[in-house]
Amino acid sequence: MNIALIGLGIVGRGVYDLIMNHHPDLHIQYVLEKDPQKLEGIRVDHTKSLQDILNDPHVDVVIELVGGKQFAYEVVSAALKAKKHVVTANKALISDEYASLHQLAYEHSVHLLYEAAVGGAIHILAPLKKIAAINPIHRIEGILNGTTNFILDQIFLHDLSKEEAILKADHLGYLEKGSNDDLEGWDTLRKINILAMMSFHTVLLEKDIIRVSLESLSESFIAYAKQQKKVIKYVACAFKKGHEVMVYVVPKMMPSSHLYTHIQNEYNVIELYGEYHEKQMFIGQGAGRYPTATAVISDLLSLHDLKAVTPLQNKPMSVNANVQTFDFLVLKKGVITQVHQTFEAVLGDADVTSIVMMEAGQL
Ligand SMILES: NC(=O)c1ccc[n+]([C@@H]2O[C@H](COP(=O)([O-])OP(=O)(O)OC[C@H]3O[C@@H](n4cnc5c(N)ncnc54)[C@H](OP(=O)(O)O)[C@@H]3O)[C@@H](O)[C@H]2O)c1
Repeated sequence: MNIALIGLGIVGRGVYDLIMNHHPDLHIQYVLEKDPQKLEGIRVDHTKSLQDILNDPHVDVVIELVGGKQFAYEVVSAALKAKKHVVTANKALISDEYASLHQLAYEHSVHLLYEAAVGGAIHILAPLKKIAAINPIHRIEGILNGTTNFILDQIFLHDLSKEEAILKADHLGYLEKGSNDDLEGWDTLRKINILAMMSFHTVLLEKDIIRVSLESLSESFIAYAKQQKKVIKYVACAFKKGHEVMVYVVPKMMPSSHLYTHIQNEYNVIELYGEYHEKQMFIGQGAGRYPTATAVISDLLSLHDLKAVTPLQNKPMSVNANVQTFDFLVLKKGVITQVHQTFEAVLGDADVTSIVMMEAGQL
């Protein structure tokens, strides 16, 4: 299999190392990387031109690992149109362009794979595809962002203030430079969006997903949770009832005995609930060079076994219709109050400055 590897950053270099050291059957024909320093010691041809790659009939697969949206979209759409399979780790691109890119892949009879976009070392998407084809999934829940999980652990296990914990994550290089996607919840939202679309065989729009940023988490909630011997985790959830789905990302308060408290630092957890089975749980490192690179390799190896590309299913669903009520703690005019309301009601209340969801029945 002949490969063009685009982007040799954290994940790209990991993919390069794993291929060169362990997979002689995978041949990297080109690398394309704009930072010359990252090309030092690379023992394959490099090119500066995407067109070289697209025009080369020997290239079977393009791996997109540049991140961001604009150039990544150009790379992925052009590669699909040139009848190259595409493997990417780019959750921002897949979450936003899920339907259009799958349509392109279908029209050109090539595969679009993105195992590394969700859960890092947890290879969830390939099994999920199989599970969801056999067994209607009605709920997915989990911790999908290692950086915010690390920050919350620093606060609740190591007693740092929110500000200190964020600074520590930044010093350790966990916070993405020039982006606040982790703390604002965008990274988590994109992952739950991809999981929900695959599980429910539908297409969802990011703008319809409820997102409560972790940045908005008030220190007074942290103090309150500690006093109550509880912890706060940053949780994503998607569930379906009939033709209605709810998808949200929210700080959630839970007992310190909760299983999620054992999911620490960069670890992620993904729980699936299906019609014919109760909870299935996937746990592992959600990011990092080699954990994430293994998911890219998994996609490459799976290409040998995949059948013909089928069109994407898009069952119409109503999204976040806000009929469901939940238990929340809200900070209203400086006072913590417990309420049982819809997201719409708490988020629409101008006096509410911070919210956390509570476990059902904890009010
Ligand atoms: N890091 C993780 O743990 C992780 C986990 C899961 C998924 N992902 C996803 O994997 C993707 C890559 O992430 P990463 O952390 O590896 O990013 P990264 O370290 O920033 O690597 C991206 C590389 O692509 C290069 N690049 C950017 N624009 C380019 C262009 N126009 N032409 C050629 N090269 C270009 C960058 O060069 P410059 O540095 O010079 O800009 C950089 O070397 C992202 O979509 C991310 O969301 C990452």
